[in-house]
Amino acid sequence: MMFAKVVAVSLLLFSASALASPDFEKTCLAFKPEKLIPGSTRNVLEYVAANTTLTFPDNVVSCNRVKQAVSGNICRVALSIQTTRDSNITFEAWLPENWSGRFLATGNGGIDGCLKYEDVAYASSQGFAAVGSNNGKNGTDGLPFFHKPETVIDFAWRSLHTSVDAGKTLAKAFYGKPHSKSYYLGCSLGGRQGVKSAEMFPDDFDGIVAGAPGVDFNNLVSWRARFFTITGAIGSPNFIPATAWKTWIHDEVLRQCDTIDGAKDGIIEDPTRCKFDPSTLLCKGTTTANCLSDQQVNQLKTIFSPFTYPNGKLIFPAMQPGSEVFAVERLYAGAPFSYSEDWFKYVVYSDPSWNASSFGISDVRAAAALNPGNIRTYPTNLRRFQKRGGKLLTYHGQQDNQITSFNTIRWYNDLKGSKSTAEMDDWVRFFRVSGMNHCSGGPGAWVLGQGGNAAAAGVPFERHRNVLSAMVEWVERGVAPEYIEGTKFVNDTVTLGVDFARRHCKYPSRNTFVGGDFKDKDNWKCE
Ligand SMILES: *[C@@H]1O[C@H](CO)[C@@H](O)[C@H](O)[C@H]1NC(C)=O
Ligand SMILES: *[C@@H]1O[C@H](CO)[C@@H](O)[C@H](O)[C@H]1NC(C)=O
Ligand SMILES: *[C@@H]1O[C@H](CO)[C@@H](O)[C@H](O)[C@H]1NC(C)=O
Ligand SMILES: *[C@@H]1O[C@H](CO)[C@@H](O)[C@H](O)[C@H]1NC(C)=O
Ligand SMILES: *[C@@H]1O[C@H](CO)[C@@H](O)[C@H](O)[C@H]1NC(C)=O
Ligand SMILES: *[C@@H]1O[C@H](CO)[C@@H](O)[C@H](O)[C@H]1NC(C)=O
Repeated sequence: MMFAKVVAVSLLLFSASALASPDFEKTCLAFKPEKLIPGSTRNVLEYVAANTTLTFPDNVVSCNRVKQAVSGNICRVALSIQTTRDSNITFEAWLPENWSGRFLATGNGGIDGCLKYEDVAYASSQGFAAVGSNNGKNGTDGLPFFHKPETVIDFAWRSLHTSVDAGKTLAKAFYGKPHSKSYYLGCSLGGRQGVKSAEMFPDDFDGIVAGAPGVDFNNLVSWRARFFTITGAIGSPNFIPATAWKTWIHDEVLRQCDTIDGAKDGIIEDPTRCKFDPSTLLCKGTTTANCLSDQQVNQLKTIFSPFTYPNGKLIFPAMQPGSEVFAVERLYAGAPFSYSEDWFKYVVYSDPSWNASSFGISDVRAAAALNPGNIRTYPTNLRRFQKRGGKLLTYHGQQDNQITSFNTIRWYNDLKGSKSTAEMDDWVRFFRVSGMNHCSGGPGAWVLGQGGNAAAAGVPFERHRNVLSAMVEWVERGVAPEYIEGTKFVNDTVTLGVDFARRHCKYPSRNTFVGGDFKDKDNWKCE
């Protein structure tokens, strides 16, 4: 228990002077993490003083994470951990000097092997002993999965679980006592990882924040692969250019649907109520500008309809209207969606010559049947997690341009089954975030503590305004969130101040404008 004493002394010194903490630094540099984690080798062990900007020279270019600002004193541990003879993960634990006693694991995105340094930094700055990993591989492309089934298993679930085990062990040794409560924070693929963890390892986390979860993963990959076959390639006869999607098509969606919630603010609160009819854009007479051909109208109808098998059985829900401006950047860009293309090439078929323009129903069936590493992630109950008192918070941007938010509604409803809303509210809550793109960004009040992006630092760690804080309060004091208030900063720049705030409602309730100034959050009502 020497460690506990040393740390206690250093915390005393810390409160006397926030700048100097020589004992914490010494404790850090004397730590031997690789001795505690079987199959691990040390990559980095360093003391990082507050207000340092770390650089990551080894980080692969496609991860686009060359540096990270660190706001509090931390001990940074980076290890490689062997997961099988044929696979390994890179792992980091950021152990803050001012530890709250809490543990937190972060997730990944896309089909990436990119550690989200911004999320680890964010959590450690809030006092969590925070971990992250490369999820089994490096970079954003799928080639590292080629003939590497163990790497796919790491990616599906093992990397996160391994990181949780390692992180908890390291925190206990470092601070001289076990963590109090354990949390998860992730979005997109990271949302799926959180749900998978609740399903497979219900004891790993007390509270899981799983944003825009990529659940039903195999079908999500297929849904995304299909857009290229709908739109055709750039320059093909009926290809709709990006400028059309971003301007007059999006404008027509808003014209038909913006005011359903009562406010003409460019934000559709509940896109399930938007029955967008693209035939109003059909070219008439001799007009050929800012209008669509029959074939193009049908493209839009297909995009905004559920994706089904020939017999009508659902594969994946429709794209929600309102997401056009950013969906066109990738899904409707007239090029294969790289994550889906790579998944079919390197995981489903192990055939790099697979051609994305040939995608069809047989590919949907093949991906679903293979379900590599059991990655599907579509639990219709999470009984073990629920029984042990675990809490799950999910949120989804209502103009998500990469995973339709209708899929989270479907999953929530399937998870609910015949259970009452009250029983669900006890352990799982879903918030629909209007005007938010995929995990962040958009015209709405989207900043809600969902991670370490530049604007996230702008909202306080306060339960009404921050999803992670909301989760901590729910787990530790039994106070569950009724709504999450999002913040919109002027030009998404914290220093320019707050533009407006809006409370995002707990599903199934929806936000309705009651009149007055739409930027006033009190002029909205969840019902
Ligand atoms: C870090 O920077 C912030 C903002 O500039 C400042 O308030 C704080 O005192 C600094 N902390 C240390 C330990 O230097
Ligand atoms: C991890 O696996 C990769 C890919 O197989 C390999 O190149 C690398 O050397 C391994 N690293 C360690 C530390 O085992
Ligand atoms: C340490 O963390 C607590 C919350 O866990 C916070 O209230 C306090 O201000 C922090 N102290 C310093 C010096 O950062
Ligand atoms: C990922 O990159 C790190 C740092 O360059 C390297 O140590 C590790 O072996 C790589 N992992 C794999 C699986 O290739
Ligand atoms: C894929 O197939 C299409 C249609 O047959 C063809 O035009 C295209 O060149 C092929 N792409 C590649 C990369 O082979
Ligand atoms: C916000 O950004 C826009 C576009 O980049 C710019 O024209 C405008 O001046 C900015 N507003 C402020 C207050 O910085």
